[in-house]
Amino acid sequence: MHSPRDFYRPLAVGAPDPVREIPFRPSRMIHFFDPSNPKMVAKAPQIAAGVDILLGNLEDAVKSENKEAARAGLVQVAKENDFGETQLWTRVNSLDSPWGLDDLTTLVTEIGDKLDVIMVPKVEGPEDIHYVDRLLAQLEAKAGLQRPILVHAILETARGMTNVEDICTASPRMQGLSLGPADLAANRRMKTTRVGGGHPGYLVRQDPTDGAIDGPRSVYQQDLWHYTIGRMVDACAAAGILPFYGPFGDIKDVVACEDQFRNAFLLGCVGAWSLHPVQIEIAKRVFSPDPADVLHAQAVIEAMGDGSGALMIDGKMEDDASVKQCQVMVSLAHQLAE
Ligand code: GLV
Ligand code: MG
Repeated sequence: MHSPRDFYRPLAVGAPDPVREIPFRPSRMIHFFDPSNPKMVAKAPQIAAGVDILLGNLEDAVKSENKEAARAGLVQVAKENDFGETQLWTRVNSLDSPWGLDDLTTLVTEIGDKLDVIMVPKVEGPEDIHYVDRLLAQLEAKAGLQRPILVHAILETARGMTNVEDICTASPRMQGLSLGPADLAANRRMKTTRVGGGHPGYLVRQDPTDGAIDGPRSVYQQDLWHYTIGRMVDACAAAGILPFYGPFGDIKDVVACEDQFRNAFLLGCVGAWSLHPVQIEIAKRVFSPDPADVLHAQAVIEAMGDGSGALMIDGKMEDDASVKQCQVMVSLAHQLAE
């Protein structure tokens, strides 16, 4: 029986990054499907072939009367298919719901050997992760599983945000965090009504360019999620786990979806949720570094030789810290190409 700790490779002395490292697996999109819907169950193998992570959703968006059908549908999908390199995840019901315990018990017992990660919603603090961790340890031992199931928490309450650092380090099973903007907005009493994305009222107005109060001025809509993503990314990076942006509910607005995903990518997130096939392609494009940026990063690394000192390249100063940034970009491009 392996312990979750065996999963993590200690970094070499002097390595730039955190205390432990999750083995790399492409994770640009967590694609949600509803296993209570027989059509989606039938389509799951086809969808799995085009995504990095396929997630059977048991929580919100599945009607209460369909919770058991969803659980059974996911068991069927996992038993009938081998998804190869594609990761299989589930989002279980919350720990205070009537279904959370049965979700964990059934799924680990029936398909624990197929499940890579369990996403736990509405995590409020490290105690929620401790509970899941101990329960998984028992269920894995009973089922004779050889590989620990990892845990991913959704940040979607003000209390969860407040405890974000402790959640990240609550167990060696922690794989990452997602931002859950819809529940978080409700819990914080924000005045939004959609799932993720911006709001036309959240903006900054430029001072009038000619000094007159009614003079010409531009208006810039702001990112409602900037602070939250930044806080989540720091907590994850410090703990060596992976940050993800969550859902973008306006499926038709592919442009704004791409902007939201790109903001998250630029701030350090590794992926986002996809709720519809159009969002799979957006996530793939956004969370894979742009080839032009990779070429530029490679040129900086080469020009910097041993990586120390300073150079001017195209009028811009580059030094040891720019080499480290460029290495992030180049190594992600290599990992995704493998
Ligand atoms: C996701 O679960 C969200 O609440 O945004
Ligand atoms: Mg939610």
